[in-house]
Amino acid sequence: METTETLRPDAPGLARAAALLRMGRLVAFPTETVYGLGADATSDMACARIFEAKGRPRFNPLIAHVDSMEMARGLAVFDARAEALAAAFWPGPLTLVLPTAGVVSPLVTADLPTVALRFPAHPTARALIAAAGRPLAAPSANPSGRVSPTRAAHVLEGLSGRIAAVIDDGPCAVGVESTILGVFEALTLLRPGGLAVEEIERLMGPLTLPPKTALPNAPGQLESHYAPDAPLRLNATTPGAVHIGFGPGPGRLNLSPKGSLVEAAANLFHLLREADALAEGAEITVAPIPEIGLGRAINDRLRRAAAPR
Ligand code: TXA
Ligand code: MG
Repeated sequence: METTETLRPDAPGLARAAALLRMGRLVAFPTETVYGLGADATSDMACARIFEAKGRPRFNPLIAHVDSMEMARGLAVFDARAEALAAAFWPGPLTLVLPTAGVVSPLVTADLPTVALRFPAHPTARALIAAAGRPLAAPSANPSGRVSPTRAAHVLEGLSGRIAAVIDDGPCAVGVESTILGVFEALTLLRPGGLAVEEIERLMGPLTLPPKTALPNAPGQLESHYAPDAPLRLNATTPGAVHIGFGPGPGRLNLSPKGSLVEAAANLFHLLREADALAEGAEITVAPIPEIGLGRAINDRLRRAAAPR
């Protein structure tokens, strides 16, 4: 066990975080989607610590986070489609899987010929990558298989004593992880997320869905993930004792009383944690969520959270 420092997103806090990262230590930091568990993506030792701290299977590759197109182009091969996607949606909640240039640790790519890159929009994330001066590998900062963190307190609940520091910069605005797109022969949706599929399709045309057997397993393909302790019942039209609502209606836990899917995504993981604490192991029911826009990412996470373990 180590003592986990809580740092502020100011100049001294960022300098301390960057120094820890350069020493090969783990620092959790905010992004616009969820808090990430950062490590120097070019260091095998630092990346190995991510798998250890999260209890994450080694075959599950990591996303390398960059703070510029220059850094991104040094890590992967960009074709015209990748350039167009980056120009339209970066910085932002989109991860591109591209042919690797072989610069990041093989633990990041899980020895695949591709690397997942993300250029986050969050100013603190960008400042941290710039201060560290290298790409940061960062999965969501939670124990593997559990609910992703959207606040520094969530990070500490799961990983306190296992990581060097967390930068506390308040709640994440988007609230679900990035959309992951494979820039393969066909543009392939590997995980629905914080950028609506409709927005990508408006620019690039229809996306392909991966074959069910495709490796590696993105969280969107793993059966059980994002799991609270309590069992979940989805599309519940009659609320149970602990109910997560959506849209107008009574109830203390509501993803968005006004029925906004953007607001619902931002509240999802926090409300799952609150419901879990209230339910004490009994069932949690969740209202139906429309399968459009960010609703696709929300339903994906809810299905994984409800999957048998
Ligand atoms: O919003 C996000 O993407 C957050 C924040 C911290 O940026 N990060 C995140 O990381 O969600 P993580 O590790 O929880 O999910 C990354 C997923 C992996 O599970 C993996 O399956 C997929 O990205 N992935 C990474 N590299 C890949 C590759 N080369 N090919 C296919 N999938 C890949
Ligand atoms: Mg995750």
